[in-house]
Amino acid sequence: MNPTRAEIDFKKLAFNVEQIKRHIHREYPRRRIKICGVVKANAYGHGIEEISKKLVDYGIDFLGVANYDEAIRLRRLIQSTPILVFGTLIHSKLEPAKYVSILHRHNLTATVASLDTAKFLNDYSRRFRSRFKVHIKIDTGMRRIGFDYKRAFRNILQIASLKNLELEGIFTHFAASEEKNKSFANLQLNRFNDLLHELKKKGLEFPIIHAANSGAVLDLKNSYFNMVRPGILLYGYYPSSSIRNKIQLKPIMNFKSKITYIKKVGPRESISYGRKYFTKSAVFIGSIPAGYGDGYWKLLSNKSKVLINKRFYPQVGAVTMDWIMVSLGPRYRVKIGDDVLLMGEENGYGIGADKLAKLTGTIPYEVLCAVADRVERVYLNA
Ligand SMILES: Cc1ncc(COP(=O)(O)O)c(C=O)c1O
Repeated sequence: MNPTRAEIDFKKLAFNVEQIKRHIHREYPRRRIKICGVVKANAYGHGIEEISKKLVDYGIDFLGVANYDEAIRLRRLIQSTPILVFGTLIHSKLEPAKYVSILHRHNLTATVASLDTAKFLNDYSRRFRSRFKVHIKIDTGMRRIGFDYKRAFRNILQIASLKNLELEGIFTHFAASEEKNKSFANLQLNRFNDLLHELKKKGLEFPIIHAANSGAVLDLKNSYFNMVRPGILLYGYYPSSSIRNKIQLKPIMNFKSKITYIKKVGPRESISYGRKYFTKSAVFIGSIPAGYGDGYWKLLSNKSKVLINKRFYPQVGAVTMDWIMVSLGPRYRVKIGDDVLLMGEENGYGIGADKLAKLTGTIPYEVLCAVADRVERVYLNA
């Protein structure tokens, strides 16, 4: 059995959900604000099925996924919780008609980001004798998908005239809510509010209005409306280091392996491909069967540390596909089979995804998503 695994602790997930709920409640004690747990990209690498089941147990109201494949996978397991697909229909691999029947059969909630999609769904709804639930996506500045906020009013009036769609929700997405400076997030929020106001004047109101991703959940309470969409917070990380202090979180994944090989290497010897590291004196080198094939980035070569028995050891030489090497020093205190923490937090010691992200010039989201499929996910406190 491969000793490299990702241990995912449900107790910590429950803790994070509770922290998010309490924070929202503190901000608006009298409002019932729904939570859409964002579980796209295999729940940010943590396992979409297992995480979603738990989130439903913890009382999450909606699940948010990126595409229809993820939604179908989820619906097989989760019968009643609404699943909102953030992605568009056009990008699907399947035939459109097939997709619509999937939408219908699996009771999914579609994002509508274009008039074509709205019309298309409306036509097919009639054929399936059901009204598809849709949430309309407004582009207030992200410039990814959605009705341009300037033209959205007219477009939505057109959509509202279609008889076979259930306009359950309307939403937008922030481009920079995680920044301390909220000027762009506020601009987006104003654009969204103006549109909602115009629509209301025409008698058009939506049961569910949402905008807040993790950055906004932490730091932009005016954007809560009646649903929020946190992702990264669920998994125990902050969307950026500039807004860390609002709530306490616990990283739920510990990416681990074991020491499986130890050898002595003389002075001035090179370690690993490309000879990017040379020993200064004779040291013991431990080899750990985890590499970039497991999601331990090559960019971490000669930069990161691992934790073994509460002590940090530097990773040395190039990260290879299946192995990394660590310097254990001239006298070593570890033994073959000892656990190695590559990423996460244990007994108050940690090398979080945020730290690894800093070392590799990326964000914790990417580090978490990069944990490869071949790494077994082991669930604790299930
Ligand atoms: C539409 C949408 N909502 C919410 C989120 C959650 O974002 P975060 O993980 O920053 O909370 C995402 C993820 O990027 C998203 O694409």
